[in-house]
Amino acid sequence: MPDLQNDLILITCASGKQSSALIPHILRSYQNIRLQCNSDTSAKSLSQKYPNTEVVQADLFNASDCTRILKDVTVCWLVLPPFHPHETTLGVTFIDACIAQKEARGSFAHLVYSSVIHPILQKLLNHDCKRYIEEYLIESGLSYTILQPTHMMEMLPLAKLMQDEKPIYPCNWDPKTKFSFVTTKDVGEAAAKVLENREKHVAATYQLVSTASPLNYVEACAIVSKVIGKEVKAEQRGFEDAVNTSIKMINGGKEPPKAMKEIGSRMFLYYNERGLIGNNNVLGWLLGRETTGYEEWVKLKVEEIKSGQN
Ligand SMILES: NC(=O)c1ccc[n+]([C@@H]2O[C@H](COP(=O)([O-])OP(=O)(O)OC[C@H]3O[C@@H](n4cnc5c(N)ncnc54)[C@H](OP(=O)(O)O)[C@@H]3O)[C@@H](O)[C@H]2O)c1
Repeated sequence: MPDLQNDLILITCASGKQSSALIPHILRSYQNIRLQCNSDTSAKSLSQKYPNTEVVQADLFNASDCTRILKDVTVCWLVLPPFHPHETTLGVTFIDACIAQKEARGSFAHLVYSSVIHPILQKLLNHDCKRYIEEYLIESGLSYTILQPTHMMEMLPLAKLMQDEKPIYPCNWDPKTKFSFVTTKDVGEAAAKVLENREKHVAATYQLVSTASPLNYVEACAIVSKVIGKEVKAEQRGFEDAVNTSIKMINGGKEPPKAMKEIGSRMFLYYNERGLIGNNNVLGWLLGRETTGYEEWVKLKVEEIKSGQN
């Protein structure tokens, strides 16, 4: 059983979407929490928001940073930064640091890796790179759990759509392509269940999907229109525009490296044709409740935005 009083949990990419949804659960269970981020801005805001945690800055591409932030850690929630040109190296380096900590008679006991749905999809570079991390982790000798979230509902800029007079969602691919969606609300709760009862989930791989049946962005925007009482259109933007605008945003507004653009552009092409489809059975079982439907998510988010929580 985890020793929630004494175990030290490390949460990586703590300022990101997934970890932000996990932290409120962990604050209620673990006493010793270390939050990792990369930038000064995130370090400052995490320290203000979670004063009873230890906030550390690290570049997960840097092996000595990984070793440093793993000191005395018992359990770790590993998320890797999006579209990193060397994502497989980041994952393998981090796993090596966990192994080294454990072999040096350290405290390390369990790694929960947030991967992605279908990491076997070779045409999606940001999925394919995670396949090798999963393989390395499975063969590492570490106690582990792998979670595989699908496309996140939170990618929709709901607050902006609510603000705009004539809202149009600029879709980076064909808005008629179907997706299975997950919300970070379900991801955070599921991850907490694993981290708080980790022995039960050793060597498991769970696909994380919230929506019971796939839907496309035209349908998603129709749901948003109904909830906010204003028509929201989904329109596909040009490929070049999608690549230049979206990848730059993911890179914090800075011009992205060529390799990062390639990862994003291939994803847009793939999504344009095939979308991303999975099944919500496993997530429902893990949560012990119905997974969150798209309309339910929109209603919850709209309330959060209106009450200034978002
Ligand atoms: N979006 C989706 O629909 C989706 C679906 C499935 C899986 N995923 C996967 O989820 C992962 C991203 O998770 P997320 O969406 O929760 O994150 P996110 O919201 O995109 O936030 C990015 C995080 O990465 C950190 N970061 C950036 N560069 C870093 C570096 N060099 N070293 C350490 N940390 C760094 C950032 O820290 P600062 O704030 O300090 O910069 C921030 O915490 C990716 O691996 C992606 O493939 C995404």
